[in-house]
Amino acid sequence: MGEYRQFIFEKQTAIVDKGTISCAAPSNIALVKYWGKRPVQLPENPSISFTLDTCHTKTTLHYQKRTAQADTFEFELFFEGVLKPTFKPKVQNFFERIVDYVPFIKEYSFVIETENTFPHSSGIASSASGMSALAFCVMELEQRLCPATPASYRIQKTSFLARLGSGSACRSIEGPVTIWGAHPQIPESSDAYAVPFSGELHANFKQYQDTILLIDKGEKQVSSSVGHDLMHGHPFAKERFKQATQNLGKLTEILTSGDVDAFITIVESEALTLHAMMMTSLPYFILMKPHTLSVIQKVWQYRQETGSKLCFTLDAGANVHLLYPANEKESVKEFIVAELVAYCQKGQYICDEIGFGAKMIE
Ligand code: DP6
Repeated sequence: MGEYRQFIFEKQTAIVDKGTISCAAPSNIALVKYWGKRPVQLPENPSISFTLDTCHTKTTLHYQKRTAQADTFEFELFFEGVLKPTFKPKVQNFFERIVDYVPFIKEYSFVIETENTFPHSSGIASSASGMSALAFCVMELEQRLCPATPASYRIQKTSFLARLGSGSACRSIEGPVTIWGAHPQIPESSDAYAVPFSGELHANFKQYQDTILLIDKGEKQVSSSVGHDLMHGHPFAKERFKQATQNLGKLTEILTSGDVDAFITIVESEALTLHAMMMTSLPYFILMKPHTLSVIQKVWQYRQETGSKLCFTLDAGANVHLLYPANEKESVKEFIVAELVAYCQKGQYICDEIGFGAKMIE
């Protein structure tokens, strides 16, 4: 725990027996990728992402004070209205990782209800939005136990807890752009939590669009934990971590200057590098599908023919995120319908855009 003592909950000032907390937390899409971690949940390199909006998780936490002291966690989990014992180990693991910082979670029995706005197993990481939503609910409970907690501390600790659930989740608490991982040029940055990009976001990047093409909705071939592990002993790891740090430095300047062409170069290179890391690890994986490559070719062709600023990025899977400025919304939509929908499984895609992070809901 050591250096993160500031996040240990100390003083309860209010009596809280039972109640309900509901929040919505978005997914996010990394521009510079987090790939490689060390215990516990600390990134090998800094990453930066756009917070999304439409793709999010809604979580309701019902809490009730337990009558007897216990050393175990007590909770039930409902996913889309159905009791899901199979999802419990993930939450159990999360609670174990955060309990030193929020010891009061052992004093309550919880019913957690959760649902996503995007299809489950669509290849869209539900861990980012799911873990940030749960962390947000837990921190709201902390706030009720100690109402005087300053907002800035609370936001930072929410991101800190979310990270212990899933690394990328810590970037979903705030928006529109967040940075996770200590970076030499960003003094406020930290390996322990994400911070919002503090520069002035150029108008070109406001309301940036992200259309997610669902190329392959099958179960993930490689879980992210296995994926991150592949970077241990990877022959190119050291250079990769250095490159990510450099790319992040350049990208923060680009986000202020508004140079969309330079943005495209870094973002596409990051996506392909992420996949190159997987292709060159042992064991090796190809997570793209033939349709992923077809879409990439089409995007490049479209850009060349029209001068569009459309570009792509990828997660650790086959789906393609299409990123483009808001003023191209109509034309890109036409292009997607005419040329790209054919490559999507069941013709499915999701239109999203930059968003502003997790929030309470009624
Ligand atoms: C390729 O955050 O899912 O999406 O910390 O093991 O939960 P865990 O990993 P996770 O990894 C995300 C990897 C990525 C890149 C990124 O979002 O930065």
